[in-house]
Amino acid sequence: MKGYEPVMSFGEDVAQMYRDVQRGDEMAAVAFLEQLAGPGPALELAIGTGRIALPLAARGIRVDGVDISPAMVDQLRAKPGGDQLSVTIGDFADVPVPGTYRLIFVVWNTLFNLLTQEDQVRCFENVAAHLTDDGSFVVEALVPAFLYRLRNNQHVDAEAIEVDEVRLDVLRHDAATQMLEESHVSLSRAGVRLNPVVQRYAWPSELDLMARIAGLRLKGRWGGWDREPFNSSSSAHVSVYGR
Ligand SMILES: C[S@@+](CC[C@H](N)C(=O)[O-])C[C@H]1O[C@@H](n2cnc3c(N)ncnc32)[C@H](O)[C@@H]1O
Repeated sequence: MKGYEPVMSFGEDVAQMYRDVQRGDEMAAVAFLEQLAGPGPALELAIGTGRIALPLAARGIRVDGVDISPAMVDQLRAKPGGDQLSVTIGDFADVPVPGTYRLIFVVWNTLFNLLTQEDQVRCFENVAAHLTDDGSFVVEALVPAFLYRLRNNQHVDAEAIEVDEVRLDVLRHDAATQMLEESHVSLSRAGVRLNPVVQRYAWPSELDLMARIAGLRLKGRWGGWDREPFNSSSSAHVSVYGR
């Protein structure tokens, strides 16, 4: 998508929308992460509005964060406990923080917001440099198998049809570059509003090779936060990497 910058996807409007979003997996995710964090500290890459970081911190673990969007971090700051977390504004591929962590995690497919294989590998390498020897890097991401169901590598989904607004999700897939270009489009009397988001997806096996390049290896993989088995019908994976 020509002219696209990731920060465009997470401006003021979107940040307000994300403020109270719950996916329903929060309790299970926090329990899973708490176990790996031990005494901490933990670092969330792309912390956003703190959907996971805040309840994890409430369990007594120090949780730091990195995010590229000041608007998302403002929403985090406005929540109870949000001003207690150390959050660095920057690109999570750089892991731009000092020190080492017992747990580093990136959830909700956000690793794929890094738009090249090179940036994703760089992220693994920088994570490895910030992990304690017994530390874990947790990645939660989709499995791209659903792409085979697309017709002509595209889809348009009617997200809402109201008397005063229509919302569409418009997506195009490029199998050669592993890119998903998407826009959430709102049509109303107020005009047309576009929310573009671009991702570069990877299969779990490619992530495992990125980890190996970074000197890490896969320690465990599940189909979800409740440690469901990972198999050919899994639509997502929770993967744990370590030394
Ligand atoms: C879908 S939200 C997820 C937020 C949070 N992790 C959660 O689970 O609720 C994605 C977040 O990734 C951030 N983000 C996207 N690309 C980034 C990058 N290259 N570096 C840092 N943050 C990034 C966005 O600003 C946004 O806050």
